Amino acid sequence: MRRCYSRTVPADLNYHVPVTSRTQVAIVGAGPAGLMLGHLLHRQGIDSVIVENRSQQHVIERVRAGVLEQGTVDLMNETGIGQRLEREGLRHDGFFIAFNGSRHRIDMAALTGGRAITIYGQNEVVKDLIEARQATGRPLVFEAEDVSVGGLRTAAPIVRFTAGGVAHELTCDFIGGCDGFHGVCRPSIPDAAIRVFERVYPFGWLGILAEAPPSSSELVYSLHERGFALFSMRSPSITRLYLQCAHDEDAGAWSDERIWSELGARLATSDGWKPTEGPIVQRGVTGMRSFVAEPMRFGRLFLAGDSAHIVPPTGAKGLNLAMADVYRLAFAIAEYYRTGRERLLDLYSERALRRTWRAQRFSFWMTSMLHRDDGGNPFDYRRQIADLEYLFSSRAAMTSLAESYAGAPFENR
Ligand code: FAD
Ligand code: DHB
Repeated sequence: MRRCYSRTVPADLNYHVPVTSRTQVAIVGAGPAGLMLGHLLHRQGIDSVIVENRSQQHVIERVRAGVLEQGTVDLMNETGIGQRLEREGLRHDGFFIAFNGSRHRIDMAALTGGRAITIYGQNEVVKDLIEARQATGRPLVFEAEDVSVGGLRTAAPIVRFTAGGVAHELTCDFIGGCDGFHGVCRPSIPDAAIRVFERVYPFGWLGILAEAPPSSSELVYSLHERGFALFSMRSPSITRLYLQCAHDEDAGAWSDERIWSELGARLATSDGWKPTEGPIVQRGVTGMRSFVAEPMRFGRLFLAGDSAHIVPPTGAKGLNLAMADVYRLAFAIAEYYRTGRERLLDLYSERALRRTWRAQRFSFWMTSMLHRDDGGNPFDYRRQIADLEYLFSSRAAMTSLAESYAGAPFENR
C-alpha cells in the first residue's frame, strides 16, 4: 500500500484511521496557509486534520515566495517555529529600484520606524511548519486523491478523500479552504453565493535560482525598456532572479546564456553593478493575475490565502496575506470554542478582505509602475519613469511605498 501519512506519524496509524472520522477543523491544503492554520489551532488545543493532494517532497521543494513581512516573521517567532528563520533568514532594512541606469534605495526601516522584511524561502517556511506539525502527531495526509467538500451549510460539513486506496469521510465543525487558486474549496461554493473580481496581465515572470553569491545585499527591482527584472536571493550563496516574459513563455526555450544576457541588460547599472552569474539550478514561468473572491466564507467553509485571492508577485504580498488570513481565522475559531460566540467568525471575511484589497492596490501599483505593457507604448514608459522620479523626490511618496512593502501588523479582531 502506498504510504499516505507523513513520516513521523506511526506507520500503523495507516491501518487504524477509520474510514469515517471526526475532527474539529478539517483543513484542505498543506501550503503556508493550511499548515499555519493547523499550527495556530494546535497551540489553542484545537484538533485538525490537514489533507493535501501532493507529496510531502513536492510541497517542500516547490520554489515560490521569498520575502517575509515583519508580521509573518513575528508570527513564526511568537508561535515557536522561528529558530531556523532567526539563524538563516536575511533581514533587509531597504531595497533598490533601478531605472534609467541607476539604482535608488528605499530605506524602509528609516521610513517606517524600524520595520523590515526577511528573506527566507517559502519552502523553508513550509519545511518548518511540517516539522512542527509532525512533532504534534496530529494528522497530515499527503497524496490524498479525489478531495471534495460537502455539507457546507450544515453544522457538520464533510471532507471526502481517498488515501492509500482507502476512501475517507471526515466530519468536522469547520473547513479551512487553504487549497490555493486551483483547489476544490472555492469552486464548491455555489456561483450565486460568490463574486469574483479578476484582472489577468499580458505578461509573466521567468524565475531562476542560480548558484551564485548575491552581488547586492538588498533586492533590486528594475524598470527597463526591455521589460521588468528583479534581483533577489535565498542565501549567501544562492541568487534568485526574475525576468518579465510572455504569460505563456516556454522556460525551456531560454538557453542559460540568453537568460544571463537578458538579466544583465535589464539589471546592470552605470555604477558597474550587475548580478553575479552562476549555474542555473531551477527555472519556471508564472503568469500574473489579480483575483479576489468575495465573500471568503460560505456556511462553515472559510477560504484563506490563494484560494480566496491572488496578487501579482511584484509587491511580494501573497504568502504574507495568506499568513494574515489564517492568523485572523485561527483566533476567530478559538474564540468560538472558548466562548461559543461566532462574532469574529462572522467578521472574518469582511476584515480579511479589507487587508486583501489594500494588498491588491499596492501590488497593482508596483506591477504597473515597473512592467512594460504589451506593445511597449513609449508614452507609458515615459510616464513610468516620471512616476519613479517623483517617488524618489518625495519623502512622503517613499514613506507610502515603504509602509505598504513592509506590511501592516497582523490583526485578529
Ligand atoms: P498554496 O501555497 O498554493 O498552497 C495550497 C496547497 O493546497 C498546495 O500545497 C496544493 O498542493 C494544495 N491543494 C490544491 N488543490 C488541492 C486539493 N484538491 N486537495 C488538497 N490539497 C490541494 N508571496 C509573497 O508573500 N512574497 C513573495 O516574495 C512571493 N513571491 C512569489 C513568487 C512567485 C514566482 C510565485 C508563484 C508566488 C509568489 N508569492 C509570493 C505568492 C505565494 O507563493 C502564495 O501567495 C502562497 O503560496 C499562498 O499560500 P497558500 O497556502 O494560500 O496556497
Ligand atoms: C521575491 C519574489 C517577489 O515576488 C518579490 O517581489 C521579491 C522577491 C523572491 O522570490 O525572492
